[in-house]
Amino acid sequence: MRLDKYLADMDLGSRKEVKQLIKSNRVTVNGKVEASDKFHVNEQEDQVALDGEEIVYQKYFYYILNKPAGVISATVDNFEATTLDIFSDQDFRDDLFPVGRLDKDTEGLLIITNDGALSHRLLSPKKHVEKEYLATVEGVMTQEDVERFASGMKIDGDEICLPAELKIDQVDETNNESTIRLVLQEGKFHQVKRMVHAVGKEVTYLQRIRMGHLYLDEQLDLGSYRELTEEEIALLEKK
Ligand code: URA
Repeated sequence: MRLDKYLADMDLGSRKEVKQLIKSNRVTVNGKVEASDKFHVNEQEDQVALDGEEIVYQKYFYYILNKPAGVISATVDNFEATTLDIFSDQDFRDDLFPVGRLDKDTEGLLIITNDGALSHRLLSPKKHVEKEYLATVEGVMTQEDVERFASGMKIDGDEICLPAELKIDQVDETNNESTIRLVLQEGKFHQVKRMVHAVGKEVTYLQRIRMGHLYLDEQLDLGSYRELTEEEIALLEKK
């Protein structure tokens, strides 16, 4: 890879800005000043430094965000706050994106990455990667609902859902409220809300707590994010 691309990929500036850093003799490769932006480096083997500080190459970035209500799962928006607005200037990169969408009022686990292949694996309905949600529902959820969800129900007329596992955690008949857990294998638009609506009730609060084998970190405050550990990335890759 060209030296200017290496530095730009590591977010040290635009291609034009990093060329300037190289021209002003501030960049070394394996301890030797390298003044040509076209110089080829091996990102696995060569040691690149700026002003004496090593710049280790990292291709992919993985973050876990505990999404708060009120922000949208987009990368940029002219009117609304987005999940990427939560990122500090230091961590922000313009190739980061959220893996799938949570509604504006949904909270919980959102992976933010620049790894398109991982995102595809986690979201493709063919891969059957589980997504688990906790929801508060207005209405009394029943065993009949459990069976309908498990059988691959239809929503909005003719849209067929893959079988989903519904667990009823609590039912409060006096207040006409239930708390449920729902495990989906896909991510249709507003799917949890539409499935609950299809059985005559409404979601009043929704939180995603798991994607594949990765659970929401309970230590992570609402609106906070952190890099995933190697072990957690492996959990996401695991079938
Ligand atoms: N299902 C929904 O209805 N909303 C979400 O944000 C996620 C799943």
